[in-house]
Amino acid sequence: MKPTTLTPLQQEHRALQERLLLAARTRGELGAAAETLVRLVHPHFRKEDRIALPPLGVLFDAAHSPAPVQSPEIGALLGRLEIELPVMIEEHKAIFAALSRLRSAALQTGNRETIHLVRQLVRQARAEEEHVYPAAEMAMRHARQLMGEYASRGVTG
Ligand SMILES: [Fe+2]
Repeated sequence: MKPTTLTPLQQEHRALQERLLLAARTRGELGAAAETLVRLVHPHFRKEDRIALPPLGVLFDAAHSPAPVQSPEIGALLGRLEIELPVMIEEHKAIFAALSRLRSAALQTGNRETIHLVRQLVRQARAEEEHVYPAAEMAMRHARQLMGEYASRGVTG
């Protein structure tokens, strides 16, 4: 069984991307800084959608269903998550640096909308590091442990 997709988190990614794309249409330094962020954020969000968010769906399913957590996708997901989590944290560093540049440009031009967008993107990345990534990691470890227990008891999902 494929893990449930938690669309609100993916929708938040899309909404932030759309606002960044709008900012990137601005002339001058602000637009250039936003364009840099678009290039960094687009592949990063796609990766999170595919690797960091599905484990939260596993957690959701485990909390809402009595069925054993067992699926070939979960084993593959855990492997990818273990490899990609440190990479995603490194990508955040580049995103924070680009956000700092965008914030400076927005402050110089008094662009409140972009200042607000920068705050939201910083908060969103911090929330991922403090909540989403650890929850994804714990969900996967829990799933692996449960799959091992079910396998040893001969239970299938
Ligand atoms: Fe992120």
